[in-house]
Amino acid sequence: MKLMIRGGRPLSGRVKVHGAKNAVLPIIAASILTEGDTVITGVPKLEDVYTALEVMVSLGVDARLRGSTLTLRTRGLSSFEAPYELVRRMRASFLVTGPLVARLGQARISLPGGCAIGTRPIDLHLKGLEALGARVRIGHGCIEARASRLVGSRIYLDYPSVGATEHLIMTACLAKGTTIIENAAEEPEVVDMANYLNAAGASVHGAGTKVVRVEGVSSLRGVRHQVIPDRIEAGTYMVAAAITRGTVEVEGVVPDHLTAVTAKLRETGVEVTEDETTVLVNAARRRLRAVNIKTMPYPGFPTDMQALFMALLATTDGLGVVTETVFENRFAHVAELKRMGADIQVDGRTAAVQGTRVLYGAEVAAADLRGGAALVLAGLAADGVTVVRGVEHIDRGYEALDANLRRLGASVRRLRAAPPEEERAASGATSRVTAGS
Ligand code: UD1
Repeated sequence: MKLMIRGGRPLSGRVKVHGAKNAVLPIIAASILTEGDTVITGVPKLEDVYTALEVMVSLGVDARLRGSTLTLRTRGLSSFEAPYELVRRMRASFLVTGPLVARLGQARISLPGGCAIGTRPIDLHLKGLEALGARVRIGHGCIEARASRLVGSRIYLDYPSVGATEHLIMTACLAKGTTIIENAAEEPEVVDMANYLNAAGASVHGAGTKVVRVEGVSSLRGVRHQVIPDRIEAGTYMVAAAITRGTVEVEGVVPDHLTAVTAKLRETGVEVTEDETTVLVNAARRRLRAVNIKTMPYPGFPTDMQALFMALLATTDGLGVVTETVFENRFAHVAELKRMGADIQVDGRTAAVQGTRVLYGAEVAAADLRGGAALVLAGLAADGVTVVRGVEHIDRGYEALDANLRRLGASVRRLRAAPPEEERAASGATSRVTAGS
């Protein structure tokens, strides 16, 4: 699948963001802890969500997604094994480990591999599970964890890992006694999951701060929960407005979750106006200045916005330095941006971006979700036609990105690869794609 973008049109209009992928995924895993039906509203239709639901179904959970409402019935929970194919496809599948141990006494999960943005170890998850009384064994590409009853503990995280914080909070909910997690991640998605757990009868205190306390309870009930808006999707449309020097109103957001992104956009010279649930980004007819970006755990600048901002910096005046501190290898988009005329020098975890007047359209390939979205934004700003391959990566995390951009005035077309027979028949032909929606 590819996207074909004809660049050079300033975006204008309104766009509404979906529910947060990174909040829904841990909540889906945490629902294993509950007895009764969990109903989650505002669920985005994304490949990563479908993968999470496949994991749930493989465990015996009944999962139904109607529109953006997801119902999970855990009565049939029977299996403690998550298949390799699903864990390999999405690392967040690993979050079911602790809940399975809490409910069934054991879990057997394939080891999640590395991925395009780094090796991404799971040592903090495993140390935490062990601290909660699980016996963890690794072998034959699998992790096995067992405990007849988990017990509360004091856990210090060497790094405020988002996934480990979520995993350990949810697992501690059914442990005996009190768990204290120190140096916890403070991301809004952690808070949303804690709110869901508390509504279900858990006792989680301090989510959103560095120290989280969980008092174990004996059971959790089904509950209805509305997921928070996706701050990275919102940030993506904000940068799309800036990079095209357009004016876009992004609706259905929590502006407080976007503080770092808003501050950095303002520093470039973009006007950002906030009200309770909307941000208006105005970059029309402006020359923007380069800024420096350093990714950090929340409330610092999000690593998931790094590639998108780098695309913007390729079009601003002056030199902007981007430092990636969260993941060790998250610059796959640099080589592709350079194909579009960007001037970027990478040295270890730092990229120096010298702004240029024009990016030009080129054929480029997405290697990961946010890097892929950055190439789409660069294409919107570029002269001529950009074709972004590897759209599957983008579809993991954005619902209807191309349709939304079209509504904002962009020229974006989705091209489907021709089926193999047609390809054979057309061998030697210049075009191997057919236009889609
Ligand atoms: C989550 C987000 C992802 C985002 C990231 C950082 C989801 C589904 N994904 O990923 O979009 O980019 O937070 O904001 O919510 N680490 C260890 N040991 C561990 C766990 C993590 O060393 O046991 C390291 C990682 O390799 C990485 C850093 O900690 O360098 C941050 O990772 P983490 O916060 O865990 O990210 P995820 O939860 O995987």
